[in-house]
Amino acid sequence: MSWSLHLRTAVAAALLTCPALLPAQQLINGYEPKWWKEAVVYQVYPRSFKDNNGDGIGDLPGITSKLDYLQKLGVNVIWLSPHFDSPNADNGYDIRDYEKVMTEFGTMADFDSLLAGVKQRKMRLIIDLVVNHTSDENKWFVESRSSKTNPYRDFYIWRPGHTLPDGTRTPPNNYPSYFSGSAWTLDPKTNEYYLHYFAAKQPDLNWANPKVRHEVYDIMRFWLDKGISGFRMDVIPLISKPTGMPDLTAEQLKAPPNAYANGPHLAEYLQEMNREVLSKYDDMSVGEATGTTLAQTNALVDDRRHELNMIFNFDAIKLGRGDFGPSSLGAWSLPDLKAIYDAHATVLTKHDWDTVFLSNHDNPRVVSTFGDDSTDALRTASAKLLETMILTLRGTPFLYEGDELGMTNYPFKKLSDYDDIAIKNAYKAEVETGKISAEAFLASQAKTTRDNARTPMQWDSSPEGGFTTGNHPWLAVNPNYKTINAAAEDSDPNSVLNYVRALLKLRSGTKAFVYGDYHDLDPKDAHVYAYTRELGPEKYLVVENFTSSPVTYTLPGGVKASTLLLSDYANSKEANTSTLRLAPWESRIYKQ
Ligand code: GLC
Ligand code: CA
Repeated sequence: MSWSLHLRTAVAAALLTCPALLPAQQLINGYEPKWWKEAVVYQVYPRSFKDNNGDGIGDLPGITSKLDYLQKLGVNVIWLSPHFDSPNADNGYDIRDYEKVMTEFGTMADFDSLLAGVKQRKMRLIIDLVVNHTSDENKWFVESRSSKTNPYRDFYIWRPGHTLPDGTRTPPNNYPSYFSGSAWTLDPKTNEYYLHYFAAKQPDLNWANPKVRHEVYDIMRFWLDKGISGFRMDVIPLISKPTGMPDLTAEQLKAPPNAYANGPHLAEYLQEMNREVLSKYDDMSVGEATGTTLAQTNALVDDRRHELNMIFNFDAIKLGRGDFGPSSLGAWSLPDLKAIYDAHATVLTKHDWDTVFLSNHDNPRVVSTFGDDSTDALRTASAKLLETMILTLRGTPFLYEGDELGMTNYPFKKLSDYDDIAIKNAYKAEVETGKISAEAFLASQAKTTRDNARTPMQWDSSPEGGFTTGNHPWLAVNPNYKTINAAAEDSDPNSVLNYVRALLKLRSGTKAFVYGDYHDLDPKDAHVYAYTRELGPEKYLVVENFTSSPVTYTLPGGVKASTLLLSDYANSKEANTSTLRLAPWESRIYKQ
């Protein structure tokens, strides 16, 4: 432990034991100010960001080489998807060694330079904490499966299952896996089943075992002591398993994550983690809250409970689609989307904090899903509108790499175009068993597959979009890279990139977008989203045309749009008026 850390820990401990020493809290609009509430987070999927050595796989030196780009963009926290040693059954979400860097991504020295580069630019780095499960190649599991009496046996969840009269073995219960098939695999060595909510190569850890929890806390300290600023916690509500793990009922089988998540000991584990680790650092924690409803959110993020700072709730991103199994594109309407954000603003209190996001490495591209990528003009306008919304709603915004360029879904055709284990397993379970035709399956997956988000970043118009100097990127580059790329957008004043830069600049000087109250002016309007953010005397109005046609819209209740600060159409001029003529996907921000 470094001296400064000793000092920090000692001061923190003194403050905790002597509340009288705590400085009087200056609340802002009832909220306790925190750096992570004011942050804008940018997610980097290391495999796809930038390949520095020509092997076709993105790497840590590649990310370091793009830090100036991120700084110029104006984001201030980078969330790095898993960079740990892994056999890559699920692209790094299956960790073999938590304290080692994945060989393809570089070395620990490369990680240290990345972190130093981030800090030098006054940004922060958070990393992925994937501890619901490990890789089956993790040393704990290698030990655990070796015999029933191994000291690591109880690090995982083993059950004998059932033996039918004819000697056939069946799993302990009917739990389905997120990646198709049963969530149990029979391990021949000891003839017992182990639980894996995800792939068979991702066995679930047994959090009921205190040794497991303390190993996890050690790993967290290892990275925090290096200087990272916190964690995005993978599927964290799944760590406490349902009592007795009975079969899911027919009703529960419609949405297994809700049955799996928020088990009876979750609060106890998270509070222990907070006490032992998180409370000792000035960090941020964001939980990926699979299976968690808005009503359950407060129980995870209320700051008086000392668990997590915030969670990702999937209501918006999965609008019209499920959170489990192969997904198909659902229908959604603007009033549905508004209703979600309106409900968040009502249900979450000033002790809670929210996140805003419509993209990540598990979802298709935001502009192709919520915008219109059918022409370049509509793509550009709708990408700008969606970023406007994400950066002006309540909660810490999370952008995903390439959103700032308006990157789109990939034209997937054949099974071999895909990489994702979720698709490969679903193909076996759905197509090979004759439940659905290959054509129908592939057509629906093309629009929703996670691989849409994972195609390489498009840096310039050189071969492979400048992602790699080699000619074999691990996943094909979207053929539209010749027009959609960072270099071209950098020199185009009307590009999505330059708009997002302007938006981030506006946001960074405007506390109302962070701590201000939110008010939806017109929840039922099917075309336009109009809302205000208000902090003391400061008030902003945001108006967004969510359609691909021009719309004339009158603000309700005699509200007038005052001073125009920003529009995604450079020639917009309308101000001091209640009736707005909005171009397709036009979004505007007014100071009232
Ligand atoms: C999370 C990750 C996803 C991964 C899964 C299992 O949902 O975001 O990519 O496949 O957890 O770790
Ligand atoms: Ca590489």
